[in-house]
Amino acid sequence: MIKGIGLDIVEISRIMKANDLNPHFKERILTKNELAIFNQLKTRRQLEFLAGRFSAKEAYSKANGTGIGKECSLQDIEILPNDKGQPILYFKQEIVQGFVSITHSKEYAAAQVVLLA
Ligand SMILES: CC(C)(COP(=O)(O)OP(=O)(O)OC[C@H]1O[C@@H](n2cnc3c(N)ncnc32)[C@H](O)[C@@H]1OP(=O)(O)O)[C@@H](O)C(=O)NCCC(=O)NCCS
Repeated sequence: MIKGIGLDIVEISRIMKANDLNPHFKERILTKNELAIFNQLKTRRQLEFLAGRFSAKEAYSKANGTGIGKECSLQDIEILPNDKGQPILYFKQEIVQGFVSITHSKEYAAAQVVLLA
């Protein structure tokens, strides 16, 4: 049974500005495991990855019905690729019953989350 759905879109230029202004921005958005992936990417892919993860975390928080906040922080949500590259959702280190899909174009990153009961 579907428990929740969430959708989000972000402007990559907004993420780039935040990242340029605050050297710790990426550490606020990404977990340690996500940062390890981020650090292996080239600059443009880093921005896509960061914007895509941000969008996916907002989408998860909507599907969860909480929004981002105390009970569902950006650090509580982790999205890691499986061996084929498919993004897999974790919440507080536990695998989530649900799905996330992420996309990026030149200007935007967007994500959709479906949570199952
Ligand atoms: C819910 C949240 C993710 C909304 O994101 P947003 O970027 O402000 O706004 P969006 O345009 O993407 O989404 C707005 C929609 O989210 C939906 N929404 C709001 N609260 C929600 C909740 N608790 N559960 C599900 N959906 C929710 C609403 O439908 C809203 O649109 P509406 O007011 O027209 O009905 C919000 O909790 C959020 O962004 N919080 C954290 C931001 C943050 O931590 N930023 C850190 C930057 S470093």
